[in-house]
Amino acid sequence: MANKNLTKAKSAKNDEFYTQLSDIEKELGHYKEQFKGKVIFCNCDDPEESNFWNYFTLNFEFLGLKKLISTHFEKEKPSYKLEIVKDINNDGKINKLDTIKIPLKQNGDFRSSECIDILQEADIIITNPPFSLFREYVAQLIEYDKKFIVVGNKNAITYKENFKLIKENKLWLGYTSPKKFIQPDGSIKNFGNICWFTNVKRKKHREDLILYKKYYGNENEYPKYDNYDAINIDKVKDIPVDYEGIMGVPITFLDKHNTKQFEIVKFRKGDDNKDLCINGKCPYFRIIIKNKIKE
Ligand SMILES: C[S@@+](CC[C@H](N)C(=O)[O-])C[C@H]1O[C@@H](n2cnc3c(N)ncnc32)[C@H](O)[C@@H]1O
Repeated sequence: MANKNLTKAKSAKNDEFYTQLSDIEKELGHYKEQFKGKVIFCNCDDPEESNFWNYFTLNFEFLGLKKLISTHFEKEKPSYKLEIVKDINNDGKINKLDTIKIPLKQNGDFRSSECIDILQEADIIITNPPFSLFREYVAQLIEYDKKFIVVGNKNAITYKENFKLIKENKLWLGYTSPKKFIQPDGSIKNFGNICWFTNVKRKKHREDLILYKKYYGNENEYPKYDNYDAINIDKVKDIPVDYEGIMGVPITFLDKHNTKQFEIVKFRKGDDNKDLCINGKCPYFRIIIKNKIKE
């Protein structure tokens, strides 16, 4: 029990880091057209700290937003929401100065009924949610059939429910990978495994992965799994251009996945429903893909 609490406390501590404005700009710049006329909701954002709030207040008019809402989370007391809808101070511009602060009866938990009401009103949910609640967080977005662009740990790709969505092309990784986050004391923390998860359609498909390695003539570099009829590939850059069969690739493949180039066949398990193995060793956490161009 003590251990469980420690793990919980640790993960809650890891929840307190804030996204840099530059990283938000780099990713959200790709979705400008999709934001026009939309209600944006940042539901894990203390507006005092959040650069998501800053980004959307600075760009409210440029993006042509209909409304911006942010809720602030308090552990044990009622909280508040901030909204921007129109030029209330009549200075001819819509920006931070037009913010309305509205008290909430509840604590701003994204799962609270008040926040769910706002969620239902919103078109796109955009934030960096607490990682310890990521599973529940995404499940709620899916349950309410919402569009979203959220920061998460790449490990979340391996959650069964997320992978199912990725395979069905209902969830994909964003364009960029933020690496540095701001901690409550203002210092910077580096993370090597963070990405964006979204279901907002892209302006254009990713470029094809440029492949140069050949399978034929180098067969010994691509062993077959014991429990699945596919070859193993350790690095995305080594995917052979000339292989028409099924291949297992590392999850970093999803950073580059162009759905027109490759189809995702399955994830992780062989025919025996056990992890993929080569010569009895099973260290392979792989995504099974097939080159569509070769069909
Ligand atoms: C990883 S931080 C990111 C904050 C901000 N979105 C950003 O990127 O700068 C996650 C935030 O979610 C808040 N939070 C924790 N539990 C929450 C909950 N149940 N509902 C809403 N927000 C929560 C935390 O207070 C924390 O500020």
